[in-house]
Amino acid sequence: MQAIKLSLPASLDNLKRVELADPGQPGAGQIRVRIHACSLNFHDYAVVTGALPTADGRIPMADGAGVVEAVGEGVSEFEVGDAVVSCFFPHWHDGGPAIADFSTTPGDGVDGYAREVVIQPSHWFTHAPKGYSHAEAATLTTAGLTAWRALVVDGALKAGETVLVLGTGGVSIFALQLAKAMGATVIATSSSDAKLAKVRELGADHTLNYRTHPEWGAEVLKLTGGRGVDHVVEVGGPGTLPQSINACRIGGHIALIGVLTGWAGPVPTAALMARQQRLQGLIVGSRQQQIEMVRGLEATGIKPIIDSTFPLADIAKAFAHEASGAHLGKICLSL
Ligand SMILES: NC(=O)c1ccc[n+]([C@@H]2O[C@H](COP(=O)([O-])OP(=O)(O)OC[C@H]3O[C@@H](n4cnc5c(N)ncnc54)[C@H](OP(=O)(O)O)[C@@H]3O)[C@@H](O)[C@H]2O)c1
Repeated sequence: MQAIKLSLPASLDNLKRVELADPGQPGAGQIRVRIHACSLNFHDYAVVTGALPTADGRIPMADGAGVVEAVGEGVSEFEVGDAVVSCFFPHWHDGGPAIADFSTTPGDGVDGYAREVVIQPSHWFTHAPKGYSHAEAATLTTAGLTAWRALVVDGALKAGETVLVLGTGGVSIFALQLAKAMGATVIATSSSDAKLAKVRELGADHTLNYRTHPEWGAEVLKLTGGRGVDHVVEVGGPGTLPQSINACRIGGHIALIGVLTGWAGPVPTAALMARQQRLQGLIVGSRQQQIEMVRGLEATGIKPIIDSTFPLADIAKAFAHEASGAHLGKICLSL
């Protein structure tokens, strides 16, 4: 079977196509899955370019979706032919956060889904939403579940609330779609006016170019009559957090998700305290949360926005496209 392996030192040039032996049939509690699609995330990019250290020969990609080809003894949740999608934390089944690193995450601490066939314990996957393509399903593992957890699980989003999403990457576009489907007002930012036109088509109520409005926190306050938003989907990190604190209402919720502007930096702690906001860090979510998200996506009819799909052999080109920042929504691989 065809697969991609990363040799060290990590770089896009060191992503090589290899032929691996077929893994055979599943044992007790396992399923055999033919992977048909992966989706790219900033996290996968950090692994394949060496920003996050990984093992020599690692098979990349956290997000995989495909079809169950065989089930092992004792597996009752899946049948042959089921469409499935992988879990970011295969061992975090339910309950509160259980892990603070990527040691068990496919494509980072363990081998991922840039390969045609895998055999894994059945709890490494959930059902995919009915009616989804494999590429659409593959976008859920990381970006979809992160947006769901930020707004629905941690944020307890209610109809009538206002959500601020930063930029037009995978997590932010999911958050925009979820927020609109759940009856919220959405303010979206981007560095590109063309992308802002697109997010208005996707339902954003207000848009702001964060390059031409570097003090976009104040602009958000104006748009909300001085009140501020109820939730911020914070993917920028230190470079955007001061503006996000300004944009968020007194007592509001900031979901601290991303580090697009750097790993660390000064935080206006006095403003955060005075505005009595909840700054909640999160990494993706549990398997149970993914099951609930799949149910929610089937109920709302949301379909992920896919920017582009590359064949597996062009994985380096796909990552270069992500790094260019030209995309809106998700970039996928087909296998
Ligand atoms: N904690 C978690 O569980 C989790 C899960 C998934 C992702 N993340 C993190 O979230 C971040 C986004 O991930 P992603 O997969 O959505 O990335 P992505 O698809 O590569 O999105 C990148 C987009 O972010 C926007 N952006 C870049 N700098 C920005 C800034 N200073 N202000 C506002 N927007 C900015 C850009 O949008 P425009 O082109 O429109 O300007 C860019 O296209 C990354 O740091 C990633 O590691 C965290």
